[in-house]
Amino acid sequence: MAKYSVLLTGILALWTPSVSGSVVARQNNNTAYLDAISEYVDSIYDDIWNISQTIHANPELGFKEVKAHDLLTSFMEAQDGWNVTRSLYNISTSFSAVFEGSGDGPVVSFNSEYDALPNLGHACGHNLIATVGLTGALATAKIMKEQDLPGKVILFGTPAEESLGGKVDMLEAGIFDDYKIDISLIAHPSNGPDTPYMRTFSTSRLDLEYYGKTAHASAAPYEGINAQDALVLAYNAIGLLRQQSQRTDQIHGIITSGGTSINVIPDLSTASFQIRAQDDADLDAWTKRILKCFDAGSVATGAELNLTMRENSYSAMLSNDILASSWSKYFVALGGTVPDAQLDRIKQQGGSTDQGNISQRFASIQPQFQIYNENGSVPTGGPHTAQFEVAAKSKKSFDKALMTAKGLAGVAVEVLTVEGMVDSVKKELEGVEGARGRKRRGVGREIRKVKGVVDDLHFH
Ligand SMILES: *[C@@H]1O[C@H](CO)[C@@H](O)[C@H](O)[C@H]1NC(C)=O
Ligand SMILES: *[C@@H]1O[C@H](CO)[C@@H](O)[C@H](O)[C@H]1NC(C)=O
Ligand SMILES: *[C@@H]1O[C@H](CO)[C@@H](O)[C@H](O)[C@H]1NC(C)=O
Ligand SMILES: *[C@@H]1O[C@H](CO)[C@@H](O)[C@H](O)[C@H]1NC(C)=O
Ligand SMILES: *[C@@H]1O[C@H](CO)[C@@H](O)[C@H](O)[C@H]1NC(C)=O
Ligand SMILES: *[C@@H]1O[C@H](CO)[C@@H](O)[C@H](O)[C@H]1NC(C)=O
Ligand SMILES: *[C@@H]1O[C@H](CO)[C@@H](O)[C@H](O)[C@H]1NC(C)=O
Ligand SMILES: [Zn+2]
Ligand SMILES: [Zn+2]
Repeated sequence: MAKYSVLLTGILALWTPSVSGSVVARQNNNTAYLDAISEYVDSIYDDIWNISQTIHANPELGFKEVKAHDLLTSFMEAQDGWNVTRSLYNISTSFSAVFEGSGDGPVVSFNSEYDALPNLGHACGHNLIATVGLTGALATAKIMKEQDLPGKVILFGTPAEESLGGKVDMLEAGIFDDYKIDISLIAHPSNGPDTPYMRTFSTSRLDLEYYGKTAHASAAPYEGINAQDALVLAYNAIGLLRQQSQRTDQIHGIITSGGTSINVIPDLSTASFQIRAQDDADLDAWTKRILKCFDAGSVATGAELNLTMRENSYSAMLSNDILASSWSKYFVALGGTVPDAQLDRIKQQGGSTDQGNISQRFASIQPQFQIYNENGSVPTGGPHTAQFEVAAKSKKSFDKALMTAKGLAGVAVEVLTVEGMVDSVKKELEGVEGARGRKRRGVGREIRKVKGVVDDLHFH
């Protein structure tokens, strides 16, 4: 009960909302529990190293991370005071592990990812993401125990980040609402510099097919409808459209099939594309323009278009400034360096993550930490390259992951101990226009009928 007053001794500044309603983070320089966090994490080094290495050596694709799920859940089940639920809400490779404090208080949560990439293994370093979540959650619980803190810390196992959007499924199932989380912490390895701000795009993916009509390519070409031409036209239209796009609009994709015989007019062509933009509103606008290019291929050739928006689009990552500044404070106290926050928070976006969706609903950060080869060099390739896969298993990278996790545990403990901080953090999120609880309709549903083939979108 008198916990807060004890904890507040020596803390000079709090997180206070300004009169205008926007949140001013009056950063205190207190890193009171960092030494204890650090000592504890160092004491479990060997166990966590083993877990990170084992996941790396056994790459599993999204929703098939059976070994990682079993490894992490059995490890958490062996920890004192944790309540572990395997296959959370019937999502087979998802889990939760809950540590209850001494009473009601903030609910801080960590996410561990552990899916790998086809043919590339752990080339996105998700073994290290698993490590950070696990370590951060355990260290937070250790301090809660020692200090008899109220509140709760939860570790979520969040499968299938790479393309299937496990966190989007978890959001839709209501998991994060049901567990009443206040904040969501995660981190991601990179070959770029350390930063609390990982800036990612909103994205959606689509598959398409053009249906034409075969004909003898020499004897009766006028009887054919060329599905390959439709796709080539659309591809070129998109290429030209790029010149009139926003600097932050992206589209990339592959043609997966054209025709099958050189002397037959192709009656089927297929492709897959990924669309990205700086936020959900831009993604909608950009997608609408791109769909016209696909229509153009159809109109010009007479081939019918079947367009399928894939399930689980991702929102852009929304980083909470108060949490970001807290993490930077701990990370710097551990000997790290971070860029100037004002510049860093507006730096260029790249890639996309399903943590973006969580960040639009719950206050979140996803610090990005640089990883290294065993010899200390930075990998020449970034995430999704073979070089990055090699670096993701080095001891130096693991050490950096632990340092990142110590910083996140610092953030979690600060939220649990500094009076008013959780409210300020949530108030900041509520002040962000468009964020908070919004669920986009998904531009796909507005296309309805495209050349008579699709009545509505097929989600798969
Ligand atoms: C906190 O530390 C920073 C960097 O060392 C310093 O610039 C700042 O004045 C300190 N703030 C307070 C409130 O002591
Ligand atoms: C992890 O621990 C198990 C059991 O002690 C051991 O068999 C295995 O070799 C260890 N793996 C690594 C990568 O350290
Ligand atoms: C563990 O969590 C489950 C699911 O929330 C709950 O039903 C159960 O009572 C909890 N067990 C303990 C020992 O707290
Ligand atoms: C999980 O699946 C089982 C068996 O199909 C069902 O009885 C149960 O209600 C499901 N639980 C949740 C949380 O969806
Ligand atoms: C449209 O594409 C989807 C996804 O590839 C496929 O399941 C469906 O059968 C196609 N529709 C038609 C009419 O071919
Ligand atoms: C995730 O974000 C995308 C992009 O904004 C959106 O289409 C989707 O509905 C979101 N899903 C959830 C469950 O929030
Ligand atoms: C360091 O290790 C990487 C990965 O094994 C290798 O590509 C690079 O050439 C090495 N650099 C030096 C200076 O040895
Ligand atoms: Zn990743
Ligand atoms: Zn990735």
